[in-house]
Amino acid sequence: MTDAFLSQSQEDSSDPFCSDLPCRPNPRMGKILVTGASGYIGGRLVPELLSRGYQVRAMVRRASPEYQARWPLAEIVVADALDEKTEALGKALAGIHTAYYLLHSLYLGPEQFEAADIKAAENFRKVAQEQQIRRIIYLGGLGDIQSSLSSHLRSRIEVAEELKRSQISVTILRAGIIIGSGSASYEIIQHLVRRLSIILVPSWAKNRCQPIAIRDVIKYLVGMLEVPETEGKNFDIGGKDILTYEAMLKKLSGILNKKVFFIPFPVSGTRGFAYLSSLFTPVPASITQCLMDSLKNEVVCQEDNVKRYVPFEPMSYKEAIVRALTREDQDRVYTRWSDAYPPAHELALKLHELSIGPAFGVRYFLATKKNSQSIFKSICNVGGKEGWFNHNWLWRTRGMIDRILGGVGSSRGRRSYTKLIINDVIDFWRIEDLQDGERLLLRSEMKLPGKAWLEFTIEDKGDERKLALTAFYDTQSLWGKIYWYACLPFHHIIFKNLLFDIEKRS
Ligand SMILES: NC(=O)c1ccc[n+]([C@@H]2O[C@H](COP(=O)([O-])OP(=O)(O)OC[C@H]3O[C@@H](n4cnc5c(N)ncnc54)[C@H](OP(=O)(O)O)[C@@H]3O)[C@@H](O)[C@H]2O)c1
Repeated sequence: MTDAFLSQSQEDSSDPFCSDLPCRPNPRMGKILVTGASGYIGGRLVPELLSRGYQVRAMVRRASPEYQARWPLAEIVVADALDEKTEALGKALAGIHTAYYLLHSLYLGPEQFEAADIKAAENFRKVAQEQQIRRIIYLGGLGDIQSSLSSHLRSRIEVAEELKRSQISVTILRAGIIIGSGSASYEIIQHLVRRLSIILVPSWAKNRCQPIAIRDVIKYLVGMLEVPETEGKNFDIGGKDILTYEAMLKKLSGILNKKVFFIPFPVSGTRGFAYLSSLFTPVPASITQCLMDSLKNEVVCQEDNVKRYVPFEPMSYKEAIVRALTREDQDRVYTRWSDAYPPAHELALKLHELSIGPAFGVRYFLATKKNSQSIFKSICNVGGKEGWFNHNWLWRTRGMIDRILGGVGSSRGRRSYTKLIINDVIDFWRIEDLQDGERLLLRSEMKLPGKAWLEFTIEDKGDERKLALTAFYDTQSLWGKIYWYACLPFHHIIFKNLLFDIEKRS
């Protein structure tokens, strides 16, 4: 286990969200399955349940040593709920008492997520029934079912209905916008306010919502498990405040002490706003479109029955924002929206899995007397706020082109600016391999006519270290080959200088 893993899990368990919950843990009830454990909510629920003594099985779609290292006490299972063969799902659900259903494919984009979500729920419901599990706890979305809902909110309700078709007792929690470090909604709001001096306010920005802190969501999720009377019931959960979207932005500008002019705007379509927002925030258009489509609906709790079963005072919007900002400042963002990124599965072919190796490669290296640890630390600072040390404008231009094409772009940044773990994103890369002091391998998630990797290695050569940077690229298409050769002159400049800068900063 690397230091990065250790420090991350220790830091979080020292600050469990549920320490003031009025209910008692009941670890003897049996095994608890957390689906979507690699996601934003699931990734925060697993350590919480573990800290309360539960036997936890965490379900992820792709095996990675990172999960076991993060939660040494949990059992990790690999299953894809969309897989036609349901054996893996059967193994995940075997012997389970309660399953948390936290699967979501929102980031597949507006055209694809609805069908994927309903199919996943159907497969899950059937296998859960075969395995005779006792309970399902599902976290869905708020929204008045009488009104015409966005496809995102409608899909959340359809999933609830699908899960309820079984004989298993299903508890449904419905939440609106979740505010917390690493949440997509919070990062969109925060970046818009920080980066813009004028914000256009369309009519739907006057709709009301009831944002809830991530901490309170986790408390309710755990509370549902520990209060048996919640079995089979539905609950709306929200924070202390009911606000318009405009008021949320204004309050945040007040908290950040940033002067922003809010100007009424007659155009009311959400698509254009979503696309523009994606250019100013780390969150790509596929996500902003789904989220902003829901802004035309009021997302306010219709009832507050949950307070009878799990009574505690939820945070205000301001408290949630201040807590999220503090977590970011302390570099303690435990999970982030970018952790779960379904297109990453299509791109997840690993470098060593290529049958005949990458078609192209270019390597730069230098010798240095500096020690491996300090060089590696310097390598691990790339991206995010630090940028790429030189020719940042070239990296940013490439990122902006990617964003315009609907890709993730380079503004996605990083979850933590001091620690990296496998699967973290760094701008338009995702970490494929991390061997402390030896190797950092990044896989590209840009829109490319091929697949690309960037590898940093350090070799100990006695009294010298060899620091190398290799760009690998694999493509079959003519356009892909043209792209590679067109980029070579830029690669030469940026990669060579990047190596020098890494060495200089170490
Ligand atoms: N985050 C919010 O602001 C918010 C607000 C209100 C309600 N909710 C609800 O909370 C729930 C969880 O949301 P979240 O924000 O944690 O979502 P998320 O970060 O997007 O995570 C979704 C999880 O689902 C997994 N998944 C998707 N398709 C799968 C499949 N076919 N098989 C197995 N796993 C699959 C993903 O795995 P991979 O990592 O492999 O992709 C990921 O772990 C959702 O129902 C959502 O509607 C969230």
